[in-house]
Amino acid sequence: MRGYALLYGRHPSEISIIDPSHAFLLALCDQGLRATEIAFIYGYTFGLSDEDAKSQVDLLLTRYRQYLTFAVRHNRSERFMPQKFLFPADTLCIESARVGKWPVPAGINITLTFSCNFNCSYCYQDRHQTTDRRWNFDKCRDLLDEAADWGIVFVGFTGGEPTLFDGWLELVERTLMLGMVPVLTSNGVVIGTDPNIPLRLQAAGMEEMTISLDVSSPLLHNRITQSRGHFPKVVDAIRFLRSAGIRVVVKSVLTPMTLPVVEDTIDFLVNLGVEEIGISYMEGGAIKSSANRARNVTQEDLVRIRERIERKQAQYSKICAIHSPRKADEKWNEREWHPCGGINMGMSIFPSGEVSVCDKMHGVEAFTYGNVFDSRLKAIWNGEAFAMLRERCANRKLIDQDCANCSKVDLCRTSCFVDSFNATGSYLGKNPSCGGPFF
Ligand SMILES: C[S@@+](CC[C@H](N)C(=O)[O-])C[C@H]1O[C@@H](n2cnc3c(N)ncnc32)[C@H](O)[C@@H]1O
Ligand code: SF4
Ligand code: SF4
Repeated sequence: MRGYALLYGRHPSEISIIDPSHAFLLALCDQGLRATEIAFIYGYTFGLSDEDAKSQVDLLLTRYRQYLTFAVRHNRSERFMPQKFLFPADTLCIESARVGKWPVPAGINITLTFSCNFNCSYCYQDRHQTTDRRWNFDKCRDLLDEAADWGIVFVGFTGGEPTLFDGWLELVERTLMLGMVPVLTSNGVVIGTDPNIPLRLQAAGMEEMTISLDVSSPLLHNRITQSRGHFPKVVDAIRFLRSAGIRVVVKSVLTPMTLPVVEDTIDFLVNLGVEEIGISYMEGGAIKSSANRARNVTQEDLVRIRERIERKQAQYSKICAIHSPRKADEKWNEREWHPCGGINMGMSIFPSGEVSVCDKMHGVEAFTYGNVFDSRLKAIWNGEAFAMLRERCANRKLIDQDCANCSKVDLCRTSCFVDSFNATGSYLGKNPSCGGPFF
C-alpha cells in the first residue's frame, strides 16, 4: 500500500493521490477532535516535536480545506466524513490513476429518459433516441445497488426530464439510502405539482438539487421552452424545495432571448431564496440537438453580460453565489486547465443500456464501450472496449498533434470530445478552449 486517492468530485482537478500520513490526518478529522488534539495524535504517531506537529497539521488542514469544508457542510450524515472519500490504492492503482484510470469511477450519470415536457431551443440533448424495452425501474434500481456495492460516490440523474421516468423519486430515495450522493437536475414541472415530493426528498436526506430556469417571465418561459403555462410550476418547485429545507441551485442558460433580462432573472431568483445561480454559456450538444442549430450570443455580448452579472454578484454577495458564464474565447493556460472528467471519472448510462463517456454522446459508436443489459458496470469499466477507447484517445498517431506533444495528454485525452467535434469535425481534435500544448 503506497497511497490513497482523495476524491472530491468527478473532475480530474478534484482528485489527488495523497500520502498515507495525510490520509491518516484526514481520518482524524470530523471525529469531534480539535486541531490541537489532532496535532497531538499526529505528532505522537509520527514522532514529531509539538511545534513540528502543529505546523505540519496546520499546513495539511489548509491544503485539504476543500475536503474538510465538504465534510463540515454535510456532517449530519456519516457518509460525508472525509475518510469515505479516501480510496486505498496499491501500486498498480496509483500508477494507472496517474494516467487518469481509476479503479472505480467517482460517479455514474443515468439518463433516465430521453423524453421531455419541454422543447428548449438550446437543449444539448437529442431527445428522439431509442430506449430499450427492458429499461425500467427495476433495471435502474439494480444499477444503483451495483454502483453502491462497487463504491460509487455520485449518481447523476438527467434526461430529457428525469422526473418523467416512472419511479424516479424512489430511485433518488434509494440512492440516498445506499449512501451515495444524488445529483439531480430537473426543469421543475413535476416537482412543482406536489409539495410532498420535496418533503419526501428531504426526509430521505437530499440536501441540494438543481432546477433549470432561465427567465422570470411566464411568456418568455413559454417561448424558450416551446411549451405553455409551466412557469408557475417551476417557481412552485423552487418554493416547495426551499420550504422543505433543500438548497436550490438554479441553472440558467444564456441565449439571445435571455440576455436582455438577466438582471430581472437574478433578482427574481434571489427573492425566491435561491442560494446559488449558475449562468452558463450555451454549449454545443449531441449531433442532432437543437443546441447545434440555435443562435448563440456573441463574444461581445459575453463581455458585456459578464460586467452586468458582476454588478449583481456584488449586490447579492452575502446571500447568493452567482456564477458568470465562462469566457468562451479565453484559452486555458497551464494553471487553469479544465479537462473534461467524462472519460476518467464517470460513466454515462442511457435508456438503450449503452454506456458512453458523456450524456451528449449517445449513439456515437466509437465512444460507446458497453451495455448494461450485457455486462455489469465493473466489467464494463475494466473491459477491453473501454481500455481500447482510452488508448485511442491518447494515441499520438490519431489525436491532434498539439495534444500528441502535450505533457497532459494522458490525463486530458484531448478533453471534451463534443466541443472538439463541433469545432474541428473530429472527436479527437484539440479542445477549442485549450491554450496548450503544455510541456
Ligand atoms: C439536458 S438538461 C436535463 C435535465 C432537465 N430536463 C433540465 O432541463 O434541468 C440538463 C441541464 O443542461 C442544461 N442545458 C441544456 N442544454 C444546454 C446547452 N446547450 N448549454 C448549456 N447548458 C444546457 C439545462 O438547462 C439543464 O440545466
Ligand atoms: S434542457 Fe431539459 S427541459 Fe429543456 S428540452 Fe432539454 S431536457 Fe427538456
Ligand atoms: S493540448 Fe490537448 S492534451 Fe494538452 S491540455 Fe490541451 S486539449 Fe489537453
